[in-house]
Amino acid sequence: MDIHKVAVIGAGVMGAGIAAHIANAGIPVLLLDITTPTLDKLLKADPAPLMHPKNARLITPGNIDDHLAALRDCDWIIEAIVENLAIKQELYRKLATVRRADAVVSSNTSSIPLHELIAGLPDDFAAHCMITHFFNPPRYMRLLEIVSRAQTDQDALAKISYFCDHKLGKGVVTANDTPGFIANRIGIFWIQTAIHEAIALGLTVEEADAVIGKPMGIPKTGVFGLSDLVGIDLMPHLMHSMKHSLPAGDALLEKANIPPVIQTMIDTGYTGRKGKGGFYRLNRDGGEKVK
Ligand code: NAI
Repeated sequence: MDIHKVAVIGAGVMGAGIAAHIANAGIPVLLLDITTPTLDKLLKADPAPLMHPKNARLITPGNIDDHLAALRDCDWIIEAIVENLAIKQELYRKLATVRRADAVVSSNTSSIPLHELIAGLPDDFAAHCMITHFFNPPRYMRLLEIVSRAQTDQDALAKISYFCDHKLGKGVVTANDTPGFIANRIGIFWIQTAIHEAIALGLTVEEADAVIGKPMGIPKTGVFGLSDLVGIDLMPHLMHSMKHSLPAGDALLEKANIPPVIQTMIDTGYTGRKGKGGFYRLNRDGGEKVK
């Protein structure tokens, strides 16, 4: 039942944080991306995800194609790559060729339902797939949504739920296999509503966050600061997958359009803390908001 070795694929905002959190639990992690990630770069998004520098030794960075065979030793493979169904499925087809028969594959997707992720994959692989949706930053956010299906291998599900609960210190919540699961089904739309309303009312991000941050339960970063942390480039991907699943005429569709200013920010590299800054600009040393 134990998890002795984990692979995290995608060394971006979430993958890096998840790998660090697992290393903090004393478990070796293989962290793979399209090109080999450097530990400096991967820790940039969250400067303190490792409890102790020695935990970095438990993380082995590598390139997905060169290290594909190494995934055979992993008990749990976590996919945290770009929020794009076709790209995720292409990766799963590769994983299906190397995964050990009892190894679990889980996606950190924010919004894509499990049945879409595993469509067309071999039954045995699909039975060992689930969604483990960590929240940002993974070291600090207790909530973890797990999505499975009736066909999911129950031992695999029990193993991952137990590990996340007892070893990673998460509060595991079981969510239905619906777009956006529980938190993002609500969260995406309140972030979008805040952006649309701030533009319509001509508010600065500081003014908008001062008004809505506290009542929405995020007094520290506010809604706009949270978007900088999450990554503004994730927004169009999320809205694409939510729009695709909303029924025609649904009132939320109106809020699902990304304002042009957001696309301009993404195109010019203002993707949030991982980029040149976001709604809040960064100081030269990174990290802090400009007051
Ligand atoms: P990111 O854009 O920061 O990182 C994605 C990483 O995946 C990049 O380093 C990229 O090079 C790599 N990648 C892309 N295609 C790949 C492939 N085929 N093989 C290997 N690596 C590949 O993205 P982020 O924000 O970390 O999101 C990752 C996943 O986590 C997405 O599914 C997203 O919806 C989800 N998520 C994101 C949250 C956030 O706050 N940013 C919160 C919870 C879930």
